[in-house]
Amino acid sequence: MRKPLLIANWKMNQSKKELDSYVRSFSKPLASFVNITQDISIVFAVPFTMLESMQHCVEQFGLKVIAQNVHHKVSGAYTGEISALMLKELGIWGTIVGHSERRQYFGETDALVVEKANLCLTHNLVPVICIGESLQERQNGQTQTVIYNQMSALLDGVTDLTKIVIAYEPVWAIGTGLAATADQAQEVHAQIRSMLQQKGGSSLADNCSILYGGSMKASNTKELMSKPDIDGGLVGGASLIPEEFAQMVREIIN
Ligand code: PGA
Repeated sequence: MRKPLLIANWKMNQSKKELDSYVRSFSKPLASFVNITQDISIVFAVPFTMLESMQHCVEQFGLKVIAQNVHHKVSGAYTGEISALMLKELGIWGTIVGHSERRQYFGETDALVVEKANLCLTHNLVPVICIGESLQERQNGQTQTVIYNQMSALLDGVTDLTKIVIAYEPVWAIGTGLAATADQAQEVHAQIRSMLQQKGGSSLADNCSILYGGSMKASNTKELMSKPDIDGGLVGGASLIPEEFAQMVREIIN
């Protein structure tokens, strides 16, 4: 039904000249798996400047490449921005939208995230839409409300919910080494799936991939992935180490 999906989010890291060696180190431990992409989708969200080169490096393995951000207008006087059309021109699969670092440092709101997602959909790019509560919100017992509000904005505003990926990333777990427990993550994933069910029935809820993100690594992959509503991961720090990221793939398909 839902194939596992593992996305590396490199953020503002790595270098173009090391892509080849990264991909070699990543694919080597996976060489014994024939047709790996039948069992799992593996995606790299790399900086804009590396998109094309990374695509060249990974296409022979059937792996996909996405961007980490996109502007909410299709073209115009927006110095320094990248549009969905430009991304589409590269032939990439999609882009992350509304990562908590974008929301936190660049003031992205739910409304803007919906605009970006819709522009992606218009141009056949898959938006990987991030939601999640802050530490303070969790401590105040507001997790469910925060998720409800963020999801409601998506459910009301996104034009085609069948073509999105949702990533639940508790902000307190990102880059802290303190991942959510599998039970904590499952609780929120179940809430997300039930909201999808209410909006679009089983065909929407059963087919939407909901990823977990936040200090996910090889050692906690199996437990997180054992939960019924966790379909994969959005992985920051651990994806920078090719052997570690390959191990996460093994944990999922083994
Ligand atoms: P992390 O980042 O795995 O380093 O916590 C995840 C993310 O921000 O997508």
